[in-house]
Amino acid sequence: MSNRTFTMIKPDAVRAGNIGNILKMINDAGFRIVAMKLSKMSMERAGEFYAVHSERPFYGELCEFMSSGPIVAAILEKDNAVEDFRKLIGATNPAQAEEGTIRKAYATSVGENAVHGSDSDENAAIEGAFHFSGTEMF
Ligand code: CMP
Repeated sequence: MSNRTFTMIKPDAVRAGNIGNILKMINDAGFRIVAMKLSKMSMERAGEFYAVHSERPFYGELCEFMSSGPIVAAILEKDNAVEDFRKLIGATNPAQAEEGTIRKAYATSVGENAVHGSDSDENAAIEGAFHFSGTEMF
Protein backbone atom coordinates (compact mmCIF):
# COMPACT_ATOMS: atom_id res chain seq x y z
CA MET A 1 0.00 0.00 0.00
CA SER A 2 1.47 3.34 -1.08
CA ASN A 3 1.11 6.58 0.82
CA ARG A 4 2.03 9.07 -1.91
CA THR A 5 0.63 9.95 -5.29
CA PHE A 6 1.27 12.64 -7.87
CA THR A 7 -1.32 14.96 -9.41
CA MET A 8 -1.59 17.84 -11.84
CA ILE A 9 -4.47 20.27 -12.03
CA LYS A 10 -4.53 20.61 -15.82
CA PRO A 11 -4.58 23.82 -17.94
CA ASP A 12 -8.38 23.65 -18.53
CA ALA A 13 -9.14 23.67 -14.79
CA VAL A 14 -6.54 26.37 -14.09
CA ARG A 15 -8.00 28.57 -16.89
CA ALA A 16 -11.52 28.02 -15.53
CA GLY A 17 -10.47 29.28 -12.08
CA ASN A 18 -10.96 25.92 -10.37
CA ILE A 19 -7.62 25.53 -8.54
CA GLY A 20 -9.15 26.42 -5.17
CA ASN A 21 -12.26 24.25 -5.64
CA ILE A 22 -10.17 21.22 -6.61
CA LEU A 23 -7.67 21.70 -3.77
CA LYS A 24 -10.61 21.86 -1.34
CA MET A 25 -11.93 18.51 -2.63
CA ILE A 26 -8.42 17.04 -2.24
CA ASN A 27 -8.10 18.45 1.28
CA ASP A 28 -11.59 17.32 2.31
CA ALA A 29 -10.79 13.78 1.12
CA GLY A 30 -7.93 13.61 3.64
CA PHE A 31 -4.85 14.11 1.46
CA ARG A 32 -1.90 16.11 2.80
CA ILE A 33 0.00 18.25 0.28
CA VAL A 34 3.72 17.44 0.56
CA ALA A 35 4.84 19.33 -2.59
CA MET A 36 3.08 21.86 -4.82
CA LYS A 37 3.87 24.38 -7.58
CA LEU A 38 2.27 26.34 -10.40
CA SER A 39 4.31 25.81 -13.56
CA LYS A 40 4.03 25.54 -17.32
CA MET A 41 5.42 22.57 -19.23
CA SER A 42 6.98 23.13 -22.64
CA MET A 43 5.78 20.89 -25.50
CA GLU A 44 9.01 18.91 -25.06
CA ARG A 45 8.53 18.45 -21.29
CA ALA A 46 4.89 17.40 -21.80
CA GLY A 47 6.10 14.89 -24.40
CA GLU A 48 8.58 13.46 -21.90
CA PHE A 49 6.02 13.30 -19.11
CA TYR A 50 3.54 11.42 -21.32
CA ALA A 51 6.14 9.37 -23.25
CA VAL A 52 4.30 6.17 -22.29
CA HIS A 53 1.45 7.34 -24.58
CA SER A 54 3.70 8.27 -27.53
CA GLU A 55 2.21 5.64 -29.83
CA ARG A 56 -1.38 6.66 -29.08
CA PRO A 57 -3.30 8.66 -31.71
CA PHE A 58 -4.08 11.41 -29.16
CA TYR A 59 -0.44 11.93 -28.08
CA GLY A 60 0.14 15.15 -30.07
CA GLU A 61 -3.14 16.66 -28.93
CA LEU A 62 -2.40 15.64 -25.32
CA CYS A 63 1.06 17.27 -25.36
CA GLU A 64 -0.27 20.46 -26.98
CA PHE A 65 -3.05 20.73 -24.41
CA MET A 66 -0.79 20.00 -21.43
CA SER A 67 1.66 22.71 -22.57
CA SER A 68 -1.09 25.24 -23.39
CA GLY A 69 -1.00 26.98 -20.01
CA PRO A 70 0.01 26.63 -16.38
CA ILE A 71 -0.65 23.51 -14.37
CA VAL A 72 -0.57 22.90 -10.61
CA ALA A 73 1.72 19.95 -9.86
CA ALA A 74 1.48 18.35 -6.42
CA ILE A 75 2.51 15.30 -4.41
CA LEU A 76 -0.18 14.08 -2.03
CA GLU A 77 0.10 11.86 1.04
CA LYS A 78 -2.54 9.57 2.53
CA ASP A 79 -2.88 5.85 3.28
CA ASN A 80 -3.56 4.02 -0.01
CA ALA A 81 -2.92 7.29 -1.88
CA VAL A 82 -2.79 6.08 -5.51
CA GLU A 83 -6.00 4.08 -5.38
CA ASP A 84 -7.94 6.52 -3.20
CA PHE A 85 -6.94 9.47 -5.37
CA ARG A 86 -8.05 7.70 -8.55
CA LYS A 87 -11.42 7.14 -6.89
CA LEU A 88 -11.60 10.82 -5.97
CA ILE A 89 -10.82 12.03 -9.51
CA GLY A 90 -13.19 9.59 -11.26
CA ALA A 91 -13.11 8.04 -14.74
CA THR A 92 -10.79 9.47 -17.45
CA ASN A 93 -13.87 10.29 -19.53
CA PRO A 94 -16.00 12.71 -17.46
CA ALA A 95 -19.15 11.32 -19.11
CA GLN A 96 -18.44 8.13 -17.13
CA ALA A 97 -17.26 9.81 -13.92
CA GLU A 98 -19.34 9.24 -10.80
CA GLU A 99 -21.14 11.97 -8.88
CA GLY A 100 -18.87 13.50 -6.23
CA THR A 101 -15.67 13.05 -8.25
CA ILE A 102 -13.42 15.91 -9.39
CA ARG A 103 -13.83 15.06 -13.07
CA LYS A 104 -17.61 14.88 -12.76
CA ALA A 105 -17.55 18.39 -11.29
CA TYR A 106 -14.89 20.07 -13.41
CA ALA A 107 -13.81 18.05 -16.49
CA THR A 108 -15.30 18.79 -19.91
CA SER A 109 -13.95 15.99 -22.14
CA VAL A 110 -11.66 12.96 -22.17
CA GLY A 111 -8.79 15.20 -23.31
CA GLU A 112 -9.54 18.21 -21.10
CA ASN A 113 -10.26 16.28 -17.95
CA ALA A 114 -9.19 18.73 -15.22
CA VAL A 115 -6.78 16.52 -13.26
CA HIS A 116 -4.13 13.82 -13.60
CA GLY A 117 -3.57 11.09 -11.02
CA SER A 118 -0.75 8.52 -11.07
CA ASP A 119 -1.85 4.97 -11.92
CA SER A 120 0.69 3.05 -9.78
CA ASP A 121 3.11 3.52 -6.89
CA GLU A 122 6.03 3.24 -9.30
CA ASN A 123 4.67 5.94 -11.61
CA ALA A 124 3.77 8.18 -8.65
CA ALA A 125 7.45 8.19 -7.63
CA ILE A 126 8.68 8.76 -11.21
CA GLU A 127 6.16 11.55 -11.90
CA GLY A 128 6.80 13.27 -8.55
CA ALA A 129 10.56 13.28 -9.23
CA PHE A 130 9.91 14.67 -12.73
CA HIS A 131 8.40 17.84 -11.23
CA PHE A 132 10.08 18.23 -7.82
CA SER A 133 13.59 18.12 -6.39
CA GLY A 134 14.27 16.60 -2.98
CA THR A 135 14.28 20.05 -1.33
CA GLU A 136 10.76 20.80 -2.65
CA MET A 137 9.09 17.81 -0.95
CA PHE A 138 8.04 17.96 2.67
P1 CMP B 1 -4.24 11.41 -17.71
O1 CMP B 1 -4.73 10.75 -16.48
O2 CMP B 1 -3.50 12.68 -17.52
O3 CMP B 1 -3.33 10.40 -18.53
C1 CMP B 1 -3.26 10.35 -19.94
C2 CMP B 1 -4.19 11.33 -20.57
O4 CMP B 1 -4.45 11.12 -21.93
C3 CMP B 1 -5.55 11.21 -19.92
O5 CMP B 1 -5.51 11.71 -18.62
C4 CMP B 1 -6.42 11.98 -20.90
O6 CMP B 1 -6.47 13.36 -20.62
C5 CMP B 1 -5.68 11.76 -22.20
N1 CMP B 1 -6.49 10.92 -23.07
C6 CMP B 1 -6.85 9.65 -22.86
N2 CMP B 1 -7.62 9.22 -23.89
C7 CMP B 1 -7.74 10.27 -24.75
C8 CMP B 1 -8.40 10.45 -25.99
N3 CMP B 1 -9.10 9.46 -26.55
N4 CMP B 1 -8.30 11.66 -26.59
C9 CMP B 1 -7.58 12.66 -26.02
N5 CMP B 1 -6.92 12.54 -24.84
C10 CMP B 1 -7.01 11.35 -24.22
